[in-house]
Order: sequence, then structure tokens, then C-alpha cells
Amino acid sequence: MDFSKIPHPVNFKFPPQGTFPFTTELKDFGNGIWRLRIRHDSEETLPGESNLPPDEAVLTPYFPSENTIGNVRFEAGRLRVFSPQGTCLLESAKEGFFGTAQNSWVMRFTPEQKNEFYGLGAKTGSLEKTGMRTQMWNVDAWGSHGVFACRDGNPDPFYANIPFLLLKRGHEALGILVHNPRAVFFSLNPDMRLHPSQEKVEGSSFYWGSTQGPAEIFLITGQDVASVLRRYGRLVGTTPRPPLWSLGYHQCRWGYSGTKDLERLDFEMTKAGIPCDGLWLDIDSMDCYKVFTTNPKTFKNPETTMAKLLKKGRHVVTILDPGVRDEKGYSVRQSGVAQNAFCKNSNGDLYRGFVWPGATLFPDFSTDKGKNWWKDQVCAFSKKGFSGFWLDMNDPSTGSVTQEEMLFNHGKASHETYHNQYATGMAKATRKGLLESRPDTRPFLLSRSGSTGIGQYAALWLGDNFSHWRHLKASIPMALGLSMSGVPFVGADVGGFGDDVTEELLVRWVEAACLFPFFRIHSAKDAKEQEPWQFSKKALARIRECIQFRYRMLPYLYETFMEHERTGAPVMRPLFYLGKAAATIAPSHFEDEFLIGDNLLVAPILEPKTQSREVQLPKGDWFCLADEKWYAGGKAFDWKLKPSGFPVFVRNGSLVPQFKKNCATSTADLDLSRAQLPLYIKPGFKKTVVQEYRYDEGEGFAYKTKGDTVITLVAKPA
Ligand code: NOJ
Repeated sequence: MDFSKIPHPVNFKFPPQGTFPFTTELKDFGNGIWRLRIRHDSEETLPGESNLPPDEAVLTPYFPSENTIGNVRFEAGRLRVFSPQGTCLLESAKEGFFGTAQNSWVMRFTPEQKNEFYGLGAKTGSLEKTGMRTQMWNVDAWGSHGVFACRDGNPDPFYANIPFLLLKRGHEALGILVHNPRAVFFSLNPDMRLHPSQEKVEGSSFYWGSTQGPAEIFLITGQDVASVLRRYGRLVGTTPRPPLWSLGYHQCRWGYSGTKDLERLDFEMTKAGIPCDGLWLDIDSMDCYKVFTTNPKTFKNPETTMAKLLKKGRHVVTILDPGVRDEKGYSVRQSGVAQNAFCKNSNGDLYRGFVWPGATLFPDFSTDKGKNWWKDQVCAFSKKGFSGFWLDMNDPSTGSVTQEEMLFNHGKASHETYHNQYATGMAKATRKGLLESRPDTRPFLLSRSGSTGIGQYAALWLGDNFSHWRHLKASIPMALGLSMSGVPFVGADVGGFGDDVTEELLVRWVEAACLFPFFRIHSAKDAKEQEPWQFSKKALARIRECIQFRYRMLPYLYETFMEHERTGAPVMRPLFYLGKAAATIAPSHFEDEFLIGDNLLVAPILEPKTQSREVQLPKGDWFCLADEKWYAGGKAFDWKLKPSGFPVFVRNGSLVPQFKKNCATSTADLDLSRAQLPLYIKPGFKKTVVQEYRYDEGEGFAYKTKGDTVITLVAKPA
């Protein structure tokens, strides 16, 4: 795959003005969800479409209320999309809207200077995407782009690709989902010149398309960013509320291999007074990197070890790589071969790649045989006592071997057909396996790659980053981009994966990330050890405070996940999610501050050797949890780090349900029904405040029948 360039409409054929020789279907599902499908008149399907797989993302366009919201018109071959306020937010290009070239298709639009673009899944670089040309193709970033490009540049594409674009103009917004799992491309850069000194090319457009498969887009209209994102979230399926323990702190390192590491981690956490729920094992915990095995030297009695740890509130999560070692006599491989579960090549033989275990076979998640076989392996393996699984290398990474020969559907479907859906297929089958093994327990999965709808099955982390300040900074826009693309449960490797972390960087990273939806410290095998106790007492104390702070805030964080499940709203939100209140915020602060829910704002220090930063809050008053003072939104101000904490602000008039300070060694000590319910109201606030706290048991599925417990608080002005 050549990622450096994408197709250009100049080589596509567009029907002349006024004629439109394609069959179009524009459907209003109600509630702001519209679908446009285009097909050739002369054919049933577009070329190449006939073997299109059922998309792993099961979209749910039908919502309970079916009122038309916004207005989408497709007339005489031109598309126009209007917001509920009547603004035309999207208009197809005058020169022609829909063009084809061989199996590819493209839709082009008139550029508008005031447009801003967000989303697109996991993208490096800035939060706002104007100027970007990109192709949706999941990669193992270090393998495809090289380690140095990943360390020093903004490589694209990255691990998880989701063809969802949020178009924002002022306070109005439109969501666009290209519902096609193949190599969808987007150009948000109408300027094709090699150099600004060249003459401007007239009639330039911004466009998207795909190299194959259906020309089908969903348009999501709404009053503002928040309403569009909520609808989009429900369209692609929300993340089921996770088990409370998975929102705790997780400790991981490439190198942890079994009993000794797990027991040492538990001991050190207890000694350091750091609450912790997740202890993670990487590939060395397997026997010769064979998936679904444990290392007989380092992890002899997994069942006993994990049962003991669970009693202390420590959950063990281990890694699952899709690549299955091609070793005769290895029972997992033998059963996969016997059940015809693996991908084939064009000769009808098993496709082989070279990953950690050497020559590897790959489950074919496009077939029922492949899915069921994997699910059964997960079900059996999880019974050893693993609380969750970490799905790695599922881009899929095939090591030094090219992927064209990795075919799907028993050798009948091209690689491209399923490439981007590989990780989602793996996550879906793994989730099923966990549910089959423990039907009353909520599954927890972390995945590296994903496609549209991955959020229904797994959390995502941002892949292999580095212990550098620029990677700390970059984690905010990337996580926000994924969050807006329908993946609420996101987090970066805290402290950075590659290279050696410094004490200062780790402390700042923990401060910045301790309210991220997913929070895990992870580092590479040859990097400096990164557990909190590897640093000075002062650093350890600060890290402890931050992690304790996370545990204190868990009722709020958990409730925000419940809100997401119910409404589709992201957990981590850009400041412009608050609409007009954020109108005066400088764009740079959309990149370096973020919201958790609507009521908590984090403005972390992201630069070395500094104790202060510029903060700008949305309009209104905000209470700083560190110095317990009120700050006015609107104008930027300088905020100095306090010994008592880092910059986290609470919105005036809000309820932030929370536990007492320093309340737990793990979530096993916690009970959501015992949260404290402080209302943050600035003295003199004139409005009546009505707020709700919702909770459940934090585990299991009883909530599905008996519902949530809801407590309502009312505070009248004094
Ligand atoms: C690549 C993953 O991205 C990383 O997190 C992991 O530690 C290594 N594989 C080894 O399993």
C-alpha cells in the first residue's frame, strides 16, 4: 500500500451536468440520520461490490423518535445538506458530485473556508484536520512506517481507522460516516499545488471515496456538535458500560511474564499505597509466544495465582495476538487447522506470516468457522482466571510478510475486503468467548486496532508511543479524535512505551492522564522501568496522589460511561462540545485541555521544566479542585501548579459524585451507592440546580432488568 498519496478526482469520470446515470437512494431514518446510497444504473452493484462482506459494524439507524431533523436533498445529481438551523453545511461540487474509476468511486464537495474537520479515528497530528489527505488502512505503525518516523513524525495511517468526519462550522455541525470498510480516502485539502508560488487551480474540491465497495454514506444532522456526536455514537453502537474495575489503574510492561511479576506488583502497590485494579501480562507470559498458552517456567499455576490476586482486588489481563504459531503438535494450531479456521492464500494453502512466534497462521474472522473457533479458545482460556484480554498485533501485523496473499472467506475474498475489520472481528469473537465463559460478568477488552463500531466490543489504546513530551501532548488530540469517532474508552500508554521516561515526564503524564477514560502505565522491554516506585519519593508521592484522585472521581467517570451507553455522548470531550460557552477559546486549547463529561475540565501541564501554564475555560465559573478557588471562563489566565494538585476544574452548578479522598486499594473496596454527592455552586449563583446521580453495582447485567438507581438533588438559590 502506498500511503503517501490518495486517488484524485481528476482521473475519475463524472456524469455531465444535469445527467445522473446512477441509481440513488436517499433515506431519512428520522432523528437526524440520513443515508445516501449510489449504484450504477447499468449494474446491480458497483464493480467489485458483489463480494462485499457484511460489515462488522452493525449500524442502528432507527431511534425511538423519528422526527426529521435537518434537511438533505439530492436533486439532479447534486447533494445539499442543511442543518436544522437552515444552513447549507455540505454542497456537492458544481463540476460533478459522483465519479468512478475502475472499482473506485469518489464524492466531491465545494470547499468552505469556515469549515473545520474532526474525527477520522486514530490520527496523529492536530485535532483539526483541514489540509489532511488520508487513507483508511490499519497498520502496525512501527512495522509500516518505521520506528523513527513514529518517534519524530506524524505517520499516517495509524492503527485504528474510522471513516467518520465531523464537519463543524461555527456552532453548527454535521457528521459524515462513509459506511465502507475498505480503503476509504478523504481529502480535506482542496489545494493540489506542489508549491504556493504556483497558480491556483480553480474548481478545487474536498472529497472522499473508496477504492472499492458501496458508495454509501450516513449524514448525521443536529443542532450542534453534542447532538450530532450523540446520534453518531448510537448509530455505530455505544460501548456497553464497563466493569468498574476496568476504570481503575492498570500496570503493564513488556517483560512481565507470570507469577513473580504479578506478586511483586501486588506487593509494591500495597507497600506504596497506590490503588490498582489491573495487572497485565505481555507476550513473555506465553509458552514460546504461542497464543492461549502460559509460560511453564514463569507462570506455572495461573489459576491459583490469579485466584489469590483477585481476592485482593487485582485483576489479571493477558495479551492475545491473532498470529498462531505454525508448529505441528501445538494443540491450538491443530484444532484451528482441523476446523478450517485460518486464512488461506491464493494457492489454497494456509497463509503464513512471521510474527513473534515465527511462522504464524491467522484466524479468518470473516467466516463462522474462524469466529467460533476463536471464541471457543477464548472461552476455555479465560477459565484459568483472566479478567480480560489485551488484543494486540491485530492490525493485522504479519511481520515481514506482505498481506495481499492473506485472503478471507476460505480464500474467496480479497485481503482488502476484511483488512480494516480484522481487529473488530477479533474483538467481537473474543467478547463472545468471555461472555460464554462467564455470562454474568462484563467483558473487558483492550484492542490496538479497530474499525467503525469497534467501541461496541473493546477499549482502544493509542498504540506504541514514546517517552517524549511531544507524545504526551499528542495523546490528547488523538484520544479526542477517537472519542469523537465513536470510541469512548481510550487511553495512551502512560509514561510512553518506547525510550526511557524521565521522572518529570512520568509525573506530568500521570497528572494529564489520570482522568483519561482508560489509564494504564506501559513500557517497552528495553525501556527504563516505569513503575511508580522506580522514581524518587517525591515523584512517587505525586503519582500516588494522582491515582488516588482517579479513584476518588470514579463515580463520576463511571456515570459518564453510563451516559455514553444511554445517549452516545463521548466520555472525553473537546471543549467545543460545550458550544457557545467555548466560543472564545483559542483553538490551541482545544488541543491541550479536555472535558470528562460536561462538568470536569482538565488542563494539564505538558511542557518540561515549568510549573505553570495558560488555561482558558469555557464561559461561566469553574471551581479548581487543586486550590479550591473559583475561576471565570472566557479569558485566558496563567495557572501555577499547586502542591495540592494539578489543574482540574468543575463547572459551576454541577454535581461531581465522588468517593472520599484516599478511599481504596482497588475498586473491590468501593461501593457506588456510598459516593458523596457534592454540588459545586458558586456563592451568589442565581439558578436552581437540579442534578442526578445514577449508579449500579459496577459489575454484572442486573441493571438491564432492574435499571439504574437515580438520586436527584435540588439546590435553590439562597
Ligand atoms: C506491540 C504492542 O503495541 C506493545 O504494547 C506490546 O508490548 C508489544 N507488542 C509486545 O507484545
